[in-house]
Amino acid sequence: MESDVVVVGSANVDLVLPVQRIPRPGETVLAGVMTRGPGGKGANQAAASARAGARTTMVVSLGADEGGALLRDTLAGAGVDLSLVSTSDAPTGTAIITVDASGENSIVVAPGANGELTLSPEAAHVIGGATIVLAQLEIPMATVQEAAATSSYFILNAAPAAELPAALLADVDLLVVNESEAEAIAGPDRNALLKLVPAAVVTLGGAGAVILTRGNDEITVPGVRVEVVDTTAAGDTFCGVLAATLAAGSAIEPITPGDLTNAVRRANVAASLSVQTAGAIASVPHGDAIDARYAEVYL
Ligand code: RIB
Repeated sequence: MESDVVVVGSANVDLVLPVQRIPRPGETVLAGVMTRGPGGKGANQAAASARAGARTTMVVSLGADEGGALLRDTLAGAGVDLSLVSTSDAPTGTAIITVDASGENSIVVAPGANGELTLSPEAAHVIGGATIVLAQLEIPMATVQEAAATSSYFILNAAPAAELPAALLADVDLLVVNESEAEAIAGPDRNALLKLVPAAVVTLGGAGAVILTRGNDEITVPGVRVEVVDTTAAGDTFCGVLAATLAAGSAIEPITPGDLTNAVRRANVAASLSVQTAGAIASVPHGDAIDARYAEVYL
């Protein structure tokens, strides 16, 4: 199978607890009605890429349980190719998410089956033939490294923050991080990211994103301001749509700062749509909604 985008990553069942405010250490707070839905950074990104129009394959490890079935059904419904799903003896990953009254969240993940993800020879072959490969850090670092080494264009969303081996950074073409992840990797000056990778996008929440490329001026792409209901999966929507949009335009190589700017604009628009709906994959917009809003904002 040929793919525009291969997502190598996690899938979780999200248990979402609406709270007035996120508890401090040692504090107990009461939540509203708990909901359960499909999520996980990898699955959210794969759904976003597929809904944005890219032929998307996901390399993922699921448990042989009800959560695994929920994720399979949801990802298949989003149009993600699941021929490279592996089934683990471990339970499907679970995330406990508190969402406060302003839509901000706090997340704890039990990786479960995600911790068992390795690359089969078939997966390595598909990764090697993909236009763009996108990974995050809720799966084993060795698997991320192997995917990076096998890819022709590798995007790393370094979330959740973790120490990044030099050998992995050497294979990253584009790093996508939020401000705190950027600081964890490079310190207070985000331009220092370019000592590690050739290009980076630093997301700024509702304020948009900054594009950094070696040898060029920094480009700021302002965000699209909207009423926020729930920020869960906004960053994932951004990454999936960014990858899908870059893949669609990649006939003319290499990817330029102009290509990145167009893709970041579309990713910003998609993220602004996602924060207006509660949930993870439930909040990921479809390509027609993204393009309609893009036309209102930019055309
Ligand atoms: O980025 C949001 C995601 O983080 C949630 O869906 C949760 O599963 C965790 O992976």
